[in-house]
Amino acid sequence: GIPKFVKIVEVGPRDGLQNEKNIVPTSVKVELIRRLVSSGLPVVEATSFVSPKWVPQLADAKDVMKAVCNLEDARLPVLTPNLKGFEAAVAAGAKEVAVFASASESFSKSNINCSIEESLVRYRAVCLAAKEHSIPVRGYVSCVVGCPVEGSIPPSKVAFVAKELYDMGCFEISLGDTIGVGTPGTVVPMLEAVMAVVPAEKLAVHFHDTYGQSLSNILISLQMGISIVDSSVAGLGGCPYAKGASGNVATEDVVYMLNGLGVKTNIDLAKLMLAGEFISDHLGRQSGSKTAVALCRV
Ligand code: HMG
Ligand code: MG
Repeated sequence: GIPKFVKIVEVGPRDGLQNEKNIVPTSVKVELIRRLVSSGLPVVEATSFVSPKWVPQLADAKDVMKAVCNLEDARLPVLTPNLKGFEAAVAAGAKEVAVFASASESFSKSNINCSIEESLVRYRAVCLAAKEHSIPVRGYVSCVVGCPVEGSIPPSKVAFVAKELYDMGCFEISLGDTIGVGTPGTVVPMLEAVMAVVPAEKLAVHFHDTYGQSLSNILISLQMGISIVDSSVAGLGGCPYAKGASGNVATEDVVYMLNGLGVKTNIDLAKLMLAGEFISDHLGRQSGSKTAVALCRV
């Protein structure tokens, strides 16, 4: 059966905005995060403490974090690629972080400029430091079904990286279809392999919607026992190091589907849509959420 409650991890302010060419003012990012939190989302990924040369859009991570870290109603994790990022995140008030590895060697190189093995060494150091601060660490695995360079990725590779992250202390592992090429046909065997080594309740799914497969992939994941779903308000996003990859599945669309299934999320869809409208208006484009577009007309 399908879980009765699904935890949605909103990644719009981070994954959604990281690829935007025009710099979004810090105040807009902060207002977006506030609105997302007030819609009832339990987790809102706020920003990344990465190199500003690699991701200029998130160069204001410190200011964003300082402005939102006292929001009480949601957890606000941030991405940290190494100890330098971890220390900056903690100094700015972060209480939760995420590390991001890849199941593809080529993508690891292009995204974080090191091999998978080197990244795992860095992340062990981050996990150790986080433990001292009692800071929970989430672990991402990218390219879980396909890589822009290598093509299809074997499930065993994904399971290996997921288990490494779990064993080093990550409390939750998010499985990312970075370029959105997966279908239930490739997602099911990938999840089977990962679920053999990491408990299903510790796994999240993270789908980009390049081929319009996200909702099908989410539904099949729920049927396999997954109860944590990453998504991005208004379907914002794309990865700067995965050319052509479109945004994450839209949070509004996930909530609409879960409402239809009678699955609880504690999210107020109307308030969520206002957050989506706020950022879409700022970016000057129509929302990437079909639900938001449809409900705006009625
Ligand atoms: P590097 O160039 O190999 O690092 O980058 P380095 O250690 O040689 O340092 C180079 C410079 O970066 C130095 O500064 C460092 O101080 C600085 P310089 O001396 O040249 O002035 N530096 C930093 N600055 C700020 N914060 C830091 C930091 N670390 C070093 N933490 C690095 C390596 C990992 C830093 C770089 O490649 C990077 O920042 N990559 C981030 C890429 C990224 O954010 N990608 C998007 C997120 S992943 C994603 O979207 C996928 C996901 O959504 C899941 C999915 O969809 O599958 C999570
Ligand atoms: Mg992503």
